[in-house]
Amino acid sequence: MCGIVGYIGNREAAPILLDGLSKLEYRGYDSAGIAVYNGEQIQMEKTMGRLKVLEELTQDGATLPGTAGIGHTRWATHGSPSDLNAHPHFNKDHSIVVVHNGIIENYIKLKKKLQAKGYEFLSETDTEVIVHMLDRYYNGDPLDTITKVMHRMEGSYALGIMFRDHPNEIYAVRKDSPLIVGAGKEGNLIASDVPAILRYTRDVYFIENEEIVKLTREGLHFYNIDEEELEKESTHIDWDINAAEKGGYEHFMLKEMHEQPKAVRDTLTPRLKGDEIVIEELGMTDEEIRSVRKIFIVACGSAYHTGVTAKYVFEGLARIPVEVDLASEFRYRNPILESDSLVIIVSQSGETADTLAALREAKAKGIRTLGIVNVVGSSIAREADNVMYTWAGPEIAVATTKAYSTQLIAHYLLALKFARVRGTISETEFTAMTEDLRQLPEQISLLLSHKENVQRFANRYLAAEHIFFIGRGIDYAISMEGSLKLKEISYIHSEAYAAGELKHGTISLIEDGRLVVAVLTQPELYKKTISNIQEVKTRGAFVMAVTTVGNTEVEKVADYVIYLPETNPYFTNSLAIIPLQLFGYYVSIGRGLDVDKPRNLAKSVTVE
Ligand code: AGP
Repeated sequence: MCGIVGYIGNREAAPILLDGLSKLEYRGYDSAGIAVYNGEQIQMEKTMGRLKVLEELTQDGATLPGTAGIGHTRWATHGSPSDLNAHPHFNKDHSIVVVHNGIIENYIKLKKKLQAKGYEFLSETDTEVIVHMLDRYYNGDPLDTITKVMHRMEGSYALGIMFRDHPNEIYAVRKDSPLIVGAGKEGNLIASDVPAILRYTRDVYFIENEEIVKLTREGLHFYNIDEEELEKESTHIDWDINAAEKGGYEHFMLKEMHEQPKAVRDTLTPRLKGDEIVIEELGMTDEEIRSVRKIFIVACGSAYHTGVTAKYVFEGLARIPVEVDLASEFRYRNPILESDSLVIIVSQSGETADTLAALREAKAKGIRTLGIVNVVGSSIAREADNVMYTWAGPEIAVATTKAYSTQLIAHYLLALKFARVRGTISETEFTAMTEDLRQLPEQISLLLSHKENVQRFANRYLAAEHIFFIGRGIDYAISMEGSLKLKEISYIHSEAYAAGELKHGTISLIEDGRLVVAVLTQPELYKKTISNIQEVKTRGAFVMAVTTVGNTEVEKVADYVIYLPETNPYFTNSLAIIPLQLFGYYVSIGRGLDVDKPRNLAKSVTVE
């Protein structure tokens, strides 16, 4: 997510903007910039790289005098990290400047219209569309201009805006991206998040969707999209800076688990256009999609686990053979890749050494490669032939949650697109499944709201030495990720087994009181897995079952059951993983461990 700050008051703005941006660095970013009104013009400095580069460039803000300004740290979504793509963005005569956090979903259409009217674009960003739209509709009245543009934009945005001929005002607008306003003794501020302004005020206003704020040195004015003035109450913030960086959550992992509904929605919505799946960045014609004879999915860790699920989804829906490989294996086994194969490379960071090497191996063999990546402009994103971004925003916790969930969404969209183009599913099935996808964010929110139940259960297993996960089909893939989540943050030994494999050896590990987590979300496999639960129960296991609402048969054999909302069986991983993430998290914090930074692990494994 990008970071926005703004200040207007009686102090020099630039140092306050730089300080505010430094408090947002934890969110992850690749470039930064500030713009300040110096009494005659709006001056701007922006650069790719760390905030330190901007501080040196502006001599800690000294080169941008003035007491009103806006600033930004960019987490790239459209357009790789670069000086030109950094915010703020000017209109042509530098009379308007904008910073933005969010995604303008219809920016391509708006950009084409503006270009047809002679507007020139300097960057690849969706944000630049906003400042040119403001220019196009500017009529001397900032509020009226802003509302005109709001009516024409689709997507999410938190904006900071300055108009040169209104130098004593700063405007802020919010729709689906966070934005707060601070009323300070020495000036008024805007920010994406509380940490940026705590040093100046603890009295903040939380801005609602489609509200506009006018900040002056004297005060604040709030409006709705119909330009009616609103009365708003301020909130006094008691958080310390550490809590504030986590948005009030105790840990980044808990915060990011709760960001999953938004991350899934942000990854899904721009690609579900009516009854079409539009994946512009796929770079494949329908003919090329029809010509694919085999898919390889290559990744590490949790990303690999999404690939195991995707195998079932692609083969089930699009009837294409899929081979899933650990990148560290793929790169050394001299894989047999035919020219009509597609290699899908999955990586949150886009920098994992083994995964990058696997990508290069596939490219060396002349095979088409598609990246599913979260970090824009990362090595894998740049080197893959095409890249489909998962707009999860920066993920700080080492244990992936929201990036994992958005990778699943990318797989579902690809498989559905391929199935539709290849005619292997009916229009009715396609429509029903796209509707199921649209329900996932709310269903994930519902499951997160039951976190206390999971916490109570987790607290019974803080001293466990071994915990096993079992499942069949997609439930086996879910078990893999549930087991990894537990292992990497609680340090408890855990394994995931294909439930049908127990009798081939691993059932010897079951002892009295051993916790076995059974995943049952595939209706045609319920009975088989229930009999596996009976097998482990008779050997003394305690069984926690994760199953779809209505499958009450499980209550006859399991000791503790978590029910999931109904969805298409191909998409159940997106729901079942939520209680398993929570289980791992609560066991870890119950054991007093550093859940965001587990021992021996790094967020991105950039070495072999
Ligand atoms: C998952 O919780 C782990 N942090 C790890 O397995 C991770 O998924 C793996 O290292 C792959 O990382 P990537 O997605 O950035 O390539």
